[in-house]
Amino acid sequence: MTKETEATSVYSKNHPFLSSIVENRPLNQPGSQKDTRHIALEISGSGIEYEVGDSLGVFPTNDPRAVEELIAALGSKGDEPVALPREEERISLREALTQRLNITMQSKKFLQALLERATDPADQERLDALLKPEARAAMTEYLKNRECVDLLEEYPSVRFEPQDFVEQLKRLVPRLYSIASSPLLYPEAVHLTVAVVRYRTNNRDRVGVCSTYLADRVEPGVKEVPVFLAKSHFRLPEDADRDIIMVGPGTGIAPFRAFLQERVALGSKGRNWLFFGDQRRDYDYLYGEELEQYYSDGKLHRLDLAFSRDQEKKVYVQHRMLEKAEVLWEWINGGCLFYVCGDAHRMAKDVDAALHQIAREQGGMSEEEAASYIKLMRKERRYQRDVY
Ligand SMILES: Cc1cc2nc3c(=O)[nH]c(=O)nc-3n(C[C@H](O)[C@H](O)[C@H](O)COP(=O)(O)OP(=O)(O)OC[C@H]3O[C@@H](n4cnc5c(N)ncnc54)[C@H](O)[C@@H]3O)c2cc1C
Ligand SMILES: NC(=O)c1ccc[n+]([C@@H]2O[C@H](COP(=O)([O-])OP(=O)(O)OC[C@H]3O[C@@H](n4cnc5c(N)ncnc54)[C@H](OP(=O)(O)O)[C@@H]3O)[C@@H](O)[C@H]2O)c1
Repeated sequence: MTKETEATSVYSKNHPFLSSIVENRPLNQPGSQKDTRHIALEISGSGIEYEVGDSLGVFPTNDPRAVEELIAALGSKGDEPVALPREEERISLREALTQRLNITMQSKKFLQALLERATDPADQERLDALLKPEARAAMTEYLKNRECVDLLEEYPSVRFEPQDFVEQLKRLVPRLYSIASSPLLYPEAVHLTVAVVRYRTNNRDRVGVCSTYLADRVEPGVKEVPVFLAKSHFRLPEDADRDIIMVGPGTGIAPFRAFLQERVALGSKGRNWLFFGDQRRDYDYLYGEELEQYYSDGKLHRLDLAFSRDQEKKVYVQHRMLEKAEVLWEWINGGCLFYVCGDAHRMAKDVDAALHQIAREQGGMSEEEAASYIKLMRKERRYQRDVY
């Protein structure tokens, strides 16, 4: 990911700035199946100078309830001193599990550590079967539905000493969030659009570490959130007269809110076209009022919405693109920039396929011609993606 290039402020990934949350506001209406938050973090005094298109890195801590469950599953008290690899100072097991280590999803290496320590033949047999090369798919599925604590509970003969246990875990890594504000309007703050991850697997409620840290666990106003700027190549055109098309369903709206703020503040002449979508208009129209205001003020020139669950058959942003294919192709032929942000696994692929289809059908191109045309768009940075 190109996003990891660091900025020039004295603060960086290795030396994060301690920020505080100054706003934590739900973007969904009561009754929604989703929980998306507008999170504003203050950066005054940090020297952090962000640009629209950049991301913010956040170092979370683990959910204290998950940490206590894990300490109990280990049969430990939590105050045992441990040393993390390559570190001299010893800290308590509780602090290591809360602040420093990944205690949620594990990999094959952790299963191997369990096997090496299992003393009951039944545990050994089950672990051995999962670790066989031919069971790879089953192992992946098995690990997808379990976190550290489940694995400890499922193999009761496995015993770890606290020091041995922390040596088996990977570090807790920071998460990136696309910045949803323009520094022209908010030089002292960074806005984020965070989808709060909550789901259930293996009969347990799970939470995403960083999204719930930001949404639920950080005390507003307290300077305790370690953040750093992750510079990006996801950028507005240098020529402000160029038109832009932005495709950003769900949290994919984040950088486009920033783009719109920036273009409006600069008085850019280029036209702005946004494709946004989410589940239901009444509950999930993220930043709906702002977007409608931009649209009625003529600052957002075209706004196409795809609320997937407002009708029987799913409607997604790429369906709206195909409905508007003729005009969209005119904009592309006119030299506009085409941006996509949000889900990489399904949405970005389908939007890319729709773009190819439009090039074929509107541009009269063969499959190969459409592919090389779009490849050129990417090379010339007229097609940029910020997907995750
Ligand atoms: C450049 C970039 C920009 C990003 N911008 C944004 C943004 O603007 N807004 C935003 O919200 N996120 C954004 N993300 C994603 C963000 O970084 C985190 O990955 C996201 O918030 C989840 O982190 P977490 O710590 O809450 O969850 P984690 O603890 O990391 O857990 C997430 C994992 O949980 C599992 N999982 C999640 N849902 C389910 C389910 N239903 N069933 C089974 N397993 C599941 C999956 O394995 C998933 O990988 C961005 C990522 C990148 C790389
Ligand atoms: N692991 C993954 O694959 C993945 C990727 C991105 C986000 N997420 C998770 O999803 C949650 C919310 O993310 P988000 O708010 O950014 O929104 P999102 O889940 O990406 O959904 C936004 C909108 O996109 C629609 N959508 C679903 N599949 C699509 C496709 N193939 N093409 C175009 N649109 C499609 C959704 O419709 P429907 O929901 O009605 O189908 C919804 O209307 C978060 O918890 C996040 O972690 C998971």
